[in-house]
Formats: sequence, structure tokens, C-alpha cells
Amino acid sequence: MKLWGGRFTKPTNQLVETYTASIQFDKKLATYDIQGSLAHVKMLKACEIIPAQDADRIANGLKLVADRIDNGEAVLLEEHEDIHMNVEKLLMDEIGPVAGKLHTGRSRNDQVALDMRLYLRDTVMEIIQLLTNVQTSLYQQAQNNQDTILPGYTHLQRAQPVLFAHHMLAYVFMFQRDVERLQDSFKRINKLPLGAGALAGTTFPIDREYVQKQLDFDGICENSLDAVSDRDFVVEFLSHASMIAMHLSRMSEELVQWSSAEFDFIELDDAFCTGSSMMPQKKNPDVPELVRGKTGRVYGHLSGMLTMLKGLPLAYNKDMQEDKEGMFDAAETLKGALELFAPMIETMHVKKESMYQAVRQDYSNATDLADYLTNKGMTFRQSHETVGSIVLYCIQHDKYLLDLSLEEFQSFSYVIDSDIFEVLDPETVVNTRRSTGGTAKVSVQEQLEKAAGILKEN
Ligand code: ARG
Repeated sequence: MKLWGGRFTKPTNQLVETYTASIQFDKKLATYDIQGSLAHVKMLKACEIIPAQDADRIANGLKLVADRIDNGEAVLLEEHEDIHMNVEKLLMDEIGPVAGKLHTGRSRNDQVALDMRLYLRDTVMEIIQLLTNVQTSLYQQAQNNQDTILPGYTHLQRAQPVLFAHHMLAYVFMFQRDVERLQDSFKRINKLPLGAGALAGTTFPIDREYVQKQLDFDGICENSLDAVSDRDFVVEFLSHASMIAMHLSRMSEELVQWSSAEFDFIELDDAFCTGSSMMPQKKNPDVPELVRGKTGRVYGHLSGMLTMLKGLPLAYNKDMQEDKEGMFDAAETLKGALELFAPMIETMHVKKESMYQAVRQDYSNATDLADYLTNKGMTFRQSHETVGSIVLYCIQHDKYLLDLSLEEFQSFSYVIDSDIFEVLDPETVVNTRRSTGGTAKVSVQEQLEKAAGILKEN
């Protein structure tokens, strides 16, 4: 017998039952559903909407149901459609018909909105913690690499050398914006929809503030129609999740490149790599590759959710049952990636010497030669032109700037002096970029301090 069976004359078609059920995936919400019901029944008691002893029996029964679900004893059935009705049926098995009083003044529409918010509240907190762990690993690598120089790239062409610490800190600040976005979204997630009823509120003298306090919400959804229709908070989460996935994916791409023999800048720890079934020599960076690959599904869920919602009239529509799997999958995907990222970054071996060799074998000090000429009185455009010719000469003679003799330099411009070799040294090149936020060791140290402050606050 369905909980809503009264007005029906026939049993539900078997295919319809399977098609409309959500229990296969919304069972994930069980704890939150029961947490919400406990608060609701306590309010029904406090407001004398149901007798105190009934409320107590329901509360005790709900705890038993929670235990049965936790220890795997409870059988959740498709014929009861979703987690809300399964819990109510289980409660009925525990305590009998008095269980029927739990749903007084409530609808599954405000109930499911509540469960979603409770789930996301926990999930957002977990993700913030996991992001902070990743930031901490990056910060440690930055600490340990304040003298490690590698080529910085634009267009994936060697551009100007930078400190590896600087590169790691770029991601620390990037992930910080992700943390802040999640923290900001929390105030919109953390509002109570319960009490909206199906869409229009309820005739029972409920006390929403009471439930709000019970469940530790910061406020109450102001409008019952909005409360049951709103899934903005899910879209917002998926959008932030997409941004985080994008950041992780960009970093993953760099880790994959850097692990190749062509770059040879890092080696990921054996524990974080896998081998090939055929080629015995292989050590593959599967983790960053998969993190990069799984970004697609997170973006997909964002797009799916926006599309699902776009044509819906107020208030609740069954379409909205589709809000769950994407949210769960995005959250799980992200948590899985972040959990791996922190120890993978922490144990990553940085090949300082190899990075330095790369810097010695490029023209990433050409801007410094141009700046040098400009300081000697040329316009920057003239300097640029001259250095362009010097670089061309080097390419034609298979040399780098530091391989040139003073005579060769002077054949391009007599203003070049013997101090040029010091100026073009990678360490000088890095450490003269002292502008705030720049790559000089002093600037990076300022960034390290800022990052340390941020990590303390998170
Ligand atoms: N399983 C439903 C969902 O996830 C719960 C709300 C159903 N409400 C309704 N009137 N059919 O959206």
C-alpha cells in the first residue's frame, strides 16, 4: 500500500515504479532525512501539534531506523519510491500507526529541499578542508623550493625563469579563491526550507525558527514557493566544483608534462603512479591524468542541472528529482581528486638540477638583456630589436646568450659591458624581479607569508 494510495484505484505500473523511484541514489540522504525529521517532530511536540508521548515515540523510532540503516539491516524498497517514504515505512514497522503523525505540516517537497541543504552543508565543509590540505602541501613545496629555478612559460614556450616556489604559490592563491567561493556560498545553503509545506505553507501552527535553531541554520527561506523550488544552491555548488576541477586539471596537466622525459622537472612518488601491462619501463602519471579527465563529468553536471531547471514553472516539479545524482557525483569526484592531490604533491620529487639545466638552455634571459640596453639609454623598442638580432645570431650559431663572448655582444651594441654576464645569470634574472607579487626570492617570501596567514584562517 502506497503512502499516497488513497485516491488511486489501481496499482502503479511496474515500469512507472522503477522509472520514478529515486531510492537507488537518494538513500545517500538517509542520515540527513532522519536528522530533519527529528527536528521536525521535536517542533511538533513543542508547538503541541501532536501529543508529547507520540512525539517521543516517533523520535525514538527514528533513532532505531537510523541504526538499522547504518548497520545495513534496513531494507530500502523501490516500491516506496524515495528515502523519505522508505524512512516513514521503516518507522511504521518500528512503532506502528503513530508513525503517521510525523508528516504533519510537512511535504516531501520541503523535506527533500532540507535534505539537500543538509548534505551540501557537510560536503562543502569537507571540501574546504580538503582544499586546505592541498594548499598546505603546495605551501610546503614552496617553502622547500625558494631557490629552485625553472623556466616559466607563455604559449608553452620558455618565457622567463621563475622560482618553483612562485609556481606552487600561484596554485595556493588560486585554491584560496575556491575556498572563499565555497565559504560565501555557505550562507545561501544554510537556510531552512522546511515549513514551506508542499508550496504554500501549512495550516498547522508550526515554529520554523525553532527548527532553524535545532538544525543550526543561519536563517529561514523567506518564501514557501521559493523554498521548495530553489536549487540555486546546487547550481552554485556545481559551478564552484567546476572551477575547482578546472584548477586541478590545469595543475594535473603540468604534472603530466613535468613528469615526461621531455621536461623531466619532477618525479611523482611510485605510490602515486601506475605501470603498463606491456611496456615494462613505463611509470605513468595516471592520477593527474584521471583528475584532468574527470573534470568533464563535473562540468557536465553543472550543465545538466542548469538545463534541468531552465523551463520549470514554480513550484516543485518531479524533474527536480534529477538534482541529486549530479550533485553527489560532482562532490565524490572532487573529494576523490583532492584526497589524492595533497599527498601526491607532498611526496613529489622536485628535480632542481634538471630544472636549472633547462633554464640554462633557453633564451628566457632575453628580456633582461633588453632591459639592460634600455637602462643604458636605448628606447625599449630599439633594445627589443637589437636583442632580437642577438637571439637570431645565437640560434644560427647554436648558442645561448651566456655562451657569447663580450666581443660578440659588443658587435651588436658597444654599450654592452662585462657586467652583462652577471645580469644574464638565471639567479640574477629571477632575483631582480622584486615587484610585489614577482618571482624574486624576496617577493616570493612576502607571498609565502601571505599564504601562511591565509592557511591559518581557513
Ligand atoms: N524523491 C523526490 C525528489 O527527490 C522527493 C519529492 C517528491 N515530491 C513529490 N511531490 N513527488 O524530488
